[in-house]
Amino acid sequence: MGFQLLEKIADEFGTPVFLYFEEILKERARSVWKAFEGMRLVPTAALKANNNPVLLSILKEEGFGGDVVTPGELYAALKAGIEPSKIVWNGNGKTHQQKEFFMKNGVKIVNVDSIEEYEKLWKDADGVDLFLRINPDVEAHTHKYISTGKSEHKFGVHYKKAMEFLDREGKKFKGLHIHIGSQITKAVDFENAYEVVAEISRKFGFSQVNIGGGWGIDYGDGQELDLGEYRKIVQSTLKDFEKIYIELGRYIYAPAGILLSRVHYVKKGIEKHFVVLDTGMSHVIRPALYSAKHSVEFSEYTDEEGPYDVVGYLCETGDFIRRDIRGKLPKEGSLAIVKDIGAYGYSMASNYNSIPKPPEVLVKEDGTVKLIRRGETLEEMFRGIDF
Ligand code: LLP
Repeated sequence: MGFQLLEKIADEFGTPVFLYFEEILKERARSVWKAFEGMRLVPTAALKANNNPVLLSILKEEGFGGDVVTPGELYAALKAGIEPSKIVWNGNGKTHQQKEFFMKNGVKIVNVDSIEEYEKLWKDADGVDLFLRINPDVEAHTHKYISTGKSEHKFGVHYKKAMEFLDREGKKFKGLHIHIGSQITKAVDFENAYEVVAEISRKFGFSQVNIGGGWGIDYGDGQELDLGEYRKIVQSTLKDFEKIYIELGRYIYAPAGILLSRVHYVKKGIEKHFVVLDTGMSHVIRPALYSAKHSVEFSEYTDEEGPYDVVGYLCETGDFIRRDIRGKLPKEGSLAIVKDIGAYGYSMASNYNSIPKPPEVLVKEDGTVKLIRRGETLEEMFRGIDF
């Protein structure tokens, strides 16, 4: 992608702007199918990673359903035209009120997070495919906030407890669900989890399974899930299942999106310099929250060397996009692109410092450029306030 096109887009839509590429999105979707070739897969896209209905409608054409947690995510999935029969309802805090909304809209697949949830909401449920989320107590080797498969984590029912429970209530379930974490780059971690889920499923005669998401991508450090190795694991551990649901967010969306921004200042410091962008942690929270390292590229560089931090214009030191870059400083006014932000970028953006959310724009396969969500206005940010 050339900077010429990016300059044009920046001119037309302003900066910052979240920019997505249809071609990459489709490529990623197709490689998910490929990893499961020969198996009966029901792929779903995790709306928590990205909730733009236009992007989801592209994935729908690629045969994807949706993984939703909240009524808001369900709303977006339906808006994208996803059939309710391909929507999976996740979450560890489902309420009666939400259940009413989900059932009214025809959702029929539910991952039950706890025995308590089952007792409260699903004991007498009819016509709903229930999957019990088990906690396999395995390590995922990822950031501690996005690791979910150990017994100390709040998700799922510990597999031993689950077996006792299934002895009593197993007939009410279609199968098991697991999700051990996100940004997992070691295939063996999936293997450990899939083995647990396959063994328990065998014991209770489940022919369907939901294996969650978690595929780790290369954020520029060369670490990513090896899909060849992963496919072998799936072929051996999940071979007995007739139907496999998967819920992927990051793998599909992250590389399909960038944040296009502009350098406001290059501020000279003592030990290092600061490249100040027209965006910040309200749009890119992952560095502050998970010490995530997104690659940043600029349209024009000076001859002057760093080190430098790429920072936002918000009022705290945690407002950085990327720290300690060695190499040439960018020019003031140049474009900055924050990479791999198609997942957990816009969907985690906030209005901190009363900054409106930026627009989202799609570069279609045929090269045309389309606004897919306009930027928020100040009025919208302060709607509903009545003096
Ligand atoms: N299924 C369940 C039940 C999940 O909780 C998640 C993500 C997914 C599927 C999708 O996982 P993925 O394929 O995207 O790894 N905000 C964090 C990531 C949180 C992931 C939460 N659950 C981040 O920015 O890294």
